[in-house]
Amino acid sequence: MNDLIDGARAVREHAYAPYSGFKVGAALRTRSGKIFYGVNVENISYGLTICAERSAAVAAVLAGELEWDSIAVVADTKLPTTPCGACRQFLAEFNHNLSVIVANLDKVHYTISLTELLPHAFNTETIDS
Ligand code: THU
Repeated sequence: MNDLIDGARAVREHAYAPYSGFKVGAALRTRSGKIFYGVNVENISYGLTICAERSAAVAAVLAGELEWDSIAVVADTKLPTTPCGACRQFLAEFNHNLSVIVANLDKVHYTISLTELLPHAFNTETIDS
């Protein structure tokens, strides 16, 4: 778990957040043990901003890694920050039971399941029933 937090913290330096000044780093571990990283990338058209969690998710998908174990998210906050609603839905596409590790720069952290963060998610089973 510490390696994921350390990785997310390191990559966070590369976040592009000139508008909010709020840099976020993410590190996603696949079931095969690989780690993919992401940062938030903001845009002058604010709504186009992509969060760190979703950019890590996209990095994993483009490598063909769709089976995920856990994700660490690091930001400079007093209390660890949890993924936004859009990211919760985006991550749930691949593993609704994903372990989400949230941490700040002091390594204050806790782990919570995506199922807890996004109960009663809109999912493929809903569509198929
Ligand atoms: N952000 C993330 O990257 N992840 C989160 O979980 C929360 C928010 C980004 C989006 C935006 O660039 C900045 O943080 C402020 O909302």
